[in-house]
Amino acid sequence: MITVNRIVYAVFETPDLEAQIEHYTKIMGLTLVARDGDSAYLSASADHHTVVLRKGTEARCDTLGFQLPPGTDLGDYARQIESHGLTTKRQSDPQPSISEALVFSDDKGTNIEAFVSAEPANIGFQPQGIVPNKLGHVAYNCTDVQSTVKFYCEVLGFKVSDWMGDFFAFLRCGPDHHTINLVQGQKTKMHHIAFELRDWTHIRDACDWLAQDRIPLVWGPVRHGIGHNISTYHRNADGQIIELFCELDRVNEALDCYDPRPYHQEFPQKSGKVWEDIQLGANMWGTPPPEGFLD
Ligand SMILES: [Fe+2]
Repeated sequence: MITVNRIVYAVFETPDLEAQIEHYTKIMGLTLVARDGDSAYLSASADHHTVVLRKGTEARCDTLGFQLPPGTDLGDYARQIESHGLTTKRQSDPQPSISEALVFSDDKGTNIEAFVSAEPANIGFQPQGIVPNKLGHVAYNCTDVQSTVKFYCEVLGFKVSDWMGDFFAFLRCGPDHHTINLVQGQKTKMHHIAFELRDWTHIRDACDWLAQDRIPLVWGPVRHGIGHNISTYHRNADGQIIELFCELDRVNEALDCYDPRPYHQEFPQKSGKVWEDIQLGANMWGTPPPEGFLD
């Protein structure tokens, strides 16, 4: 089975393109690497773009870009995806830096662009703003979480890293504990987009940077039990939640467990646990999410 290797970018529609560009450049420290018409391409460091912003009528996440392993034949990949009854399309130049991709939709209506190679941005890390390492994961509310988990695992080759009860799944496609999170909701929408920072002091500096612009945290700092990452959450110009995290568990795939850490609950901490203690899974440090956070 051909499985996607990593998440590279997320594409957003926004009714206020300039305000979103300002948040992702001035606050988040991404670099505006290209702009054409009503689209803007922003890079964290190595990839040509990490976030794409397109002017639209509503704030929503429209598309995710995933990289396939080197040498993957897109024709073989198309046959694999179509064997699940899905329709795919080969697209030339779907994004700047990408010459060819296979495009299809997941079961909740998010577009997937899967590609083998892309030209890097080569901009390095900028001196001002939060400046994350990379896009870490994207979380969604979905109306049938079991069905969407099945899709990501059976069609795209993701693995279940952990469950919170039977309503919140954390899925991986590489060494990071989660790349896609899916939580049962009343409607389908992106819940948050998460960027990896370097360490706890980077999170402190990011919070100080947000405070300079009077952007409040909506939750955190927390130490999640699930994934064990330290995280904060704030909102961007469109009101979407942005997570900043560090110290996310990394999996040893052969042993199906996470590299040991002193704050783990089990030794070894095995993959695929169902966390019934919701508070521990959500925040080992205690403070629960604000009312309605998961809606
Ligand atoms: Fe997250």
